Amino acid sequence: MKDFTEAQALQMDREDPLGVLREKFSIQNKNLIYLDGNSLGMLLKAASKDLQEEVEQAWGSQLIRSWNQGWYEKGLVLGDKIAEIAGASKGEVAVADSTSVNLYKLAYAALRLKRGRKKIITDDLNFPSDIYILKGLAESLGEGHEVVVLESADGMTILPEQVREAIDDDTALVSFSHVVFKSAYMYDMEQVTHMAHQYGALALWDLSHSIGSVPVELNTSGADLAVGCTYKYLNGGPGSPAFLYVRRDLQNQLTSPLQGWFGEQDPFDFGLDYRPARGIRRFLAGTPPILSMVPVERTLEMMIGAGIHQIREKSIVQSEYLVGLVGHKLRALGFSVGSPDDAGKRGSHVSLKHPEAYRICKALIDPGAGNWEVVPDFREPDHIRIGITPLYTRFIDLYRAVQELKYIDEKKIYLDYSAERHAVT
Ligand SMILES: Cc1ncc(COP(=O)(O)O)c(C=O)c1O
Repeated sequence: MKDFTEAQALQMDREDPLGVLREKFSIQNKNLIYLDGNSLGMLLKAASKDLQEEVEQAWGSQLIRSWNQGWYEKGLVLGDKIAEIAGASKGEVAVADSTSVNLYKLAYAALRLKRGRKKIITDDLNFPSDIYILKGLAESLGEGHEVVVLESADGMTILPEQVREAIDDDTALVSFSHVVFKSAYMYDMEQVTHMAHQYGALALWDLSHSIGSVPVELNTSGADLAVGCTYKYLNGGPGSPAFLYVRRDLQNQLTSPLQGWFGEQDPFDFGLDYRPARGIRRFLAGTPPILSMVPVERTLEMMIGAGIHQIREKSIVQSEYLVGLVGHKLRALGFSVGSPDDAGKRGSHVSLKHPEAYRICKALIDPGAGNWEVVPDFREPDHIRIGITPLYTRFIDLYRAVQELKYIDEKKIYLDYSAERHAVT
């Protein structure tokens, strides 16, 4: 179907109905090919202006009055917008804290509701922070909870049968990343949630790699709980707060372990006894980082306008194109694809594997090494993750990135780089 030429890539960009959105991003370096939006999304020009205004006007001029002019409700207003692309309803999502903290709060709440059940099920493809949080929680409760970590046979996927076999009447909680961070394997949320419910367990999903890149159907799938970050596909910026989802009918049955004033029924009563607010607000804890919440709103509006299904459609065409390109140009050089073949079981990044992945990544990023500065990221031990963010990724970016990979590998340019890891890879 494809001849994999530069002309063809440029033609696909011209025909791309979402192509015009790229101009709305701040792109200062024309030589940069940014393929790491699955780690840190790009900055929208309008978001940058909003941020400036928030600093000058809302903070600089209005000062404390801004709490009654939108700040106090901001996490819930943004939550409602996230709900629109996550298949949730108004009042079921709130923006607050980090993904790790939200996971702790919701996992704790689930274990209290399912008191007496001892099993928590997760997998070895999950983001390590999630596993640390679940294990730490199990330990701190001191009630003999066990975290069962399912093992992937191929390092890429977990079979539905593995999940089915692991869940039983002693299972309190099943917690997976909807799209896993290395291979981009995507779980069938509805299928796994249903398996959990058959045994009376709750399902808690980490949506960090799926929100804004694939249509998430929280309500339709029956999901109980979810968390996710806003600095990847939602372009919230470094350290922008995360979100949490609690299905409406569960909200008032669950309680947060962090009984902070933002989750209190009426915090400005300043009463000394905590009364959890009704609804999603009870999962808030303390003062939210208002400035860090500002940028995400523009991306949410853009996504709602563009349509999450259209975004997914482009992501699939681009990831299929990339996999095809890799097969055509790189396979003979020792690269392999470390993501599922089936686009329906893959999120919006593609993992390439190579024994020299780390040094190749370093060479790709170095402006002095090739024709372009290509920024993907590296994940141990041998993954180069190519993030496809349909709001700004072009076909020509993928084409050039693969050309650079080929050049760096064929000419052994990566040998000029040390394998010593930077603090952040
Ligand atoms: C899937 C997943 N879960 C959790 C986290 C941790 O998020 P946070 O730093 O907001 O706690 C990350 C971070 O990249 C992630 O990718």
